[in-house]
Amino acid sequence: MSGCIEFVLNGAPRRLSPGTRPGQTLLEWLRGPEARLTGTKEGCAEGDCGACTVVVEEPDGGRTPVNACLALLGQMHGRAFRTVEGLRGEDGGPHPVQRVMAEADATQCGFCTPGIVMSAWAHPRASEGQGGAHEALAGNLCRCTGYRPILDAFAALEDDGVAAPQAGLSSGHFSAEGQAFHLPASLAELLDLRAAFPDAWLLAGGTDLGLRVSEHREVPGRILCLSAVPELARVERNGEALSIGAAVTYGRLLRVMEGDAAFASLAALLRRLGSRQIRGMGTLGGNLGTASPIGDGLPPLLALGARIALASAARGERVVEADSFFTGYRKTLLQADEIITRIELRRPPPGSLFVCEKLSKRHDQDISTVSAAFLVRVAEGRVAEARLAFGGMAATPVRARHAEACLTGGELTEAMFEAAARALADDVAPLSDWRGSADYRLSGARGLLRRLYWRAARPDLSLEVHAP
Ligand SMILES: Cc1cc2nc3c(=O)[nH]c(=O)nc-3n(C[C@H](O)[C@H](O)[C@H](O)COP(=O)(O)OP(=O)(O)OC[C@H]3O[C@@H](n4cnc5c(N)ncnc54)[C@H](O)[C@@H]3O)c2cc1C
Ligand code: FES
Ligand code: FES
Repeated sequence: MSGCIEFVLNGAPRRLSPGTRPGQTLLEWLRGPEARLTGTKEGCAEGDCGACTVVVEEPDGGRTPVNACLALLGQMHGRAFRTVEGLRGEDGGPHPVQRVMAEADATQCGFCTPGIVMSAWAHPRASEGQGGAHEALAGNLCRCTGYRPILDAFAALEDDGVAAPQAGLSSGHFSAEGQAFHLPASLAELLDLRAAFPDAWLLAGGTDLGLRVSEHREVPGRILCLSAVPELARVERNGEALSIGAAVTYGRLLRVMEGDAAFASLAALLRRLGSRQIRGMGTLGGNLGTASPIGDGLPPLLALGARIALASAARGERVVEADSFFTGYRKTLLQADEIITRIELRRPPPGSLFVCEKLSKRHDQDISTVSAAFLVRVAEGRVAEARLAFGGMAATPVRARHAEACLTGGELTEAMFEAAARALADDVAPLSDWRGSADYRLSGARGLLRRLYWRAARPDLSLEVHAP
């Protein structure tokens, strides 16, 4: 079945030898004997430090930073991407990004510097100042320089405009050294492969699965990758509903959400999901597939009453309510031969308040201790609808039905929200772990409900700690 992995690397087409293992990490290949591009570093091997950042050059001219320690080599087929060795100034000397980093004294031991340079090169709005730079840098750690000179370097960057369009994704099938990697070209082909290989790894962005290779050193036998299936890459609007393909990256989703005021709070939450590198690869379908109780994308789906489409070759499509999708700790309704194809999201109804919250130890690039999403509709001073969803408070993401019952039909008063906060103890059973004790989680979740009251009753108050 095997073809060769092909991509455009640093502007030059590359066709890899047929014996190249497709399920190794991109980082392993880049630093190995075939490429010898050792400017891309391995720091943490788990997507946190950004030393391995390379930049995908998109078909629309955009630039997407990704973690080479998480991306698998087969995922790069058909794409164009650049490593730090591929940046040059017009005179053949250092690229302007490298020049400003040196001039701002923004490097000491230099280990993090290639990754930071790549994040800076991918930063689309250099002219937007430090807010934008903070977001661009959230996926890069530096242990010695301190961030002030690095931010100075970012501030000195000049926007180098929109790049020329580059290669896009394409399908293919590769195998070597007992490893098979499939990039099917259609949903029908993917479903047939899933039916034939129910034990194969189903790979969307790989920001969860990639850790099994880079951190846990597992060697997958067969991988079915979703990224070249056009049906899974669509975002469609149908009136007040949004249909999101399961393989749409957070980065793309964020651009859709940013253009719609009704989803402003969800967009702000997505900006805190991982880093730009993680959002460049990770997907909502993968968040559902992992089904972690602290998946940030999941409480908003519960609060908005999302529906999830599942498909198999044998039984076709079924659409289930997000409410019933999670059946236990990291367990879902998904059968072995099924895949998640899309998520149907209704826009918050006009006049409703839709809020997403995340409590974590760090503002950026951190996993939630508690997350929440609330939809509240008030009519004539009474709460006509309340959907309160929490993450990190039970074995699955959950609706707080007792707390909802306290609010629904009642007047919009602080006492009602206080009663809902008390009732929360009947809805959740938080654990204690290193992110927070059970008491901390319950107090934090109650605090979010109290803040919800103030958001609903006094929309004129600014309750944000960090500017959105
Ligand atoms: C550094 C770092 C930071 C992170 N920060 C956050 C964070 O802030 N918040 C958060 O929620 N998560 C975070 N994550 C976790 C991860 O990014 C998310 O869970 C993401 O949504 C996974 O999506 P993916 O496309 O990369 O999934 P993958 O890794 O490709 O897959 C994950 C699982 O879902 C299954 N799957 C994927 N797509 C489908 C499908 N269409 N149908 C059926 N099953 C499917 C896969 O088989 C696999 O079991 C972080 C991860 C890292 C490494
Ligand atoms: S090596 Fe640290 S993010 Fe990849
Ligand atoms: S300069 Fe040493 S880690 Fe950043």
